Amino acid sequence: MNVDNFRLQLGGKEYVPIIIGGMGVNISTTELALSAERLGGIGHISDALVTYVCDRIFKTSYVSRKRKQYAAHSDNPDKSAELFDLEEIAEAQKKYIEHTISQKSGKGAIFLNCMEKLTMNSSVETLKVRLNSAMDAGIDGLTLAAGLNLRTLDLIQDHPRFRDVQIGIIISSVRALAIFLKRAVRLNRLPDYIIVEGPLAGGHLGFGPGDWQSFDLQTIFTEVVEFLKKEGLNIPVIPAGGIFTGTDAVDYLKQGAGAVQVATRFTIAKEAGLPSSVKQEYLNAEEKDIVVNMASTTGYPMRMLVNSPTLRYAIKPNCEGLGYLLENGGKCTYIDAYYQSIAERKEGEPLVVKEKTCLCTGMANYDCWTCGHTTYRLKETTNRLEGGVWQLPDAKDIFLDYQFSSDHSIRLPELESVS
Ligand SMILES: Cc1cc2nc3c(=O)[nH]c(=O)nc-3n(C[C@H](O)[C@H](O)[C@H](O)COP(=O)(O)O)c2cc1C
Repeated sequence: MNVDNFRLQLGGKEYVPIIIGGMGVNISTTELALSAERLGGIGHISDALVTYVCDRIFKTSYVSRKRKQYAAHSDNPDKSAELFDLEEIAEAQKKYIEHTISQKSGKGAIFLNCMEKLTMNSSVETLKVRLNSAMDAGIDGLTLAAGLNLRTLDLIQDHPRFRDVQIGIIISSVRALAIFLKRAVRLNRLPDYIIVEGPLAGGHLGFGPGDWQSFDLQTIFTEVVEFLKKEGLNIPVIPAGGIFTGTDAVDYLKQGAGAVQVATRFTIAKEAGLPSSVKQEYLNAEEKDIVVNMASTTGYPMRMLVNSPTLRYAIKPNCEGLGYLLENGGKCTYIDAYYQSIAERKEGEPLVVKEKTCLCTGMANYDCWTCGHTTYRLKETTNRLEGGVWQLPDAKDIFLDYQFSSDHSIRLPELESVS
């Protein structure tokens, strides 16, 4: 038995039950998402730092314009005045999503991963623009992630596509699900799918900093399935976090999962946005190199490689151009940590900012090497070429391996000759 024996039914359509999870900033690129869509599955793009992503792809200048507008504030720890231009956010969002959607050619779908914790110094207004513009641009689905806001559905309820776009949530506990559902029931708009993310996932974790080890995906998945059964709700449940082989996926599909969401295996795909040298870092990583820390300014634990350059940052906060993680009122824990380090630094000593990192800059520069727990196993999935460099597989190879492999086997990509 393999994953191909199953199908995900969603919104009247049928998909290969493999979803590539959203990976900001531009790790799950347009090309990566499209590779899943073309094979009949679902691919996510992410709207994290969308203005910056647009500047890179379309040579627009959203970031430099915003940076110029607020240049006078750059030495000021008070960032409360540094707001995004909502029209620009809408424009960038549409540009990026239309660019992706217009290239669809398969039977699958493209969803947007929308991390609500990207508060952008105006959490409600910016979230409203992000979600509504995404629907304007024709996105097939919205996956609401990190920092789920109970009022999110209210922000989009007037959009003409509110009832036909697929809406999903990522949760890590039955408790979070129950709270979200209460509001959804009131609006008579239940989520169309529920992604249950366990503690082995990449990116931010929906657990406490000290307790993620005491949870496991299988238990939370079972609790969610039982809860929905008790409530009489028939919503596809999609486990995520640590599903490394097609056989791991089949284990969940046999238990009634609608699909699986996977990401780590795809970080090293040719189509993924990480620079090739960083993909080699992922491939070379050992289990001891993968850590969960509190360096992110979101307040959530985050998993990353211990040698991520961002952990050594002592740079001036970069909020003028970026500022995606500013809490309402212009606060960010990196700003506090940075100015505290300056105040405490003894003369002649280098500046060291402890505990927090400028995550906007780290993610923009691919200096924050966030990854799933199974990253140390990536070396099992590809060939080592002459000279010790790892071959980077096509996303298609990885997708098809998930879809057709059995007995925990992993089919290596065809060996590339080194030119
Ligand atoms: C490099 C990387 C970046 C990620 N970034 C995000 C993100 O921006 N938003 C999000 O909701 N999840 C993010 N995730 C989580 C994935 O979407 C996915 O749910 C999870 O990693 C699946 O587990 P796996 O990586 O073990 O397959 C990220 C995962 C990885 C590996």
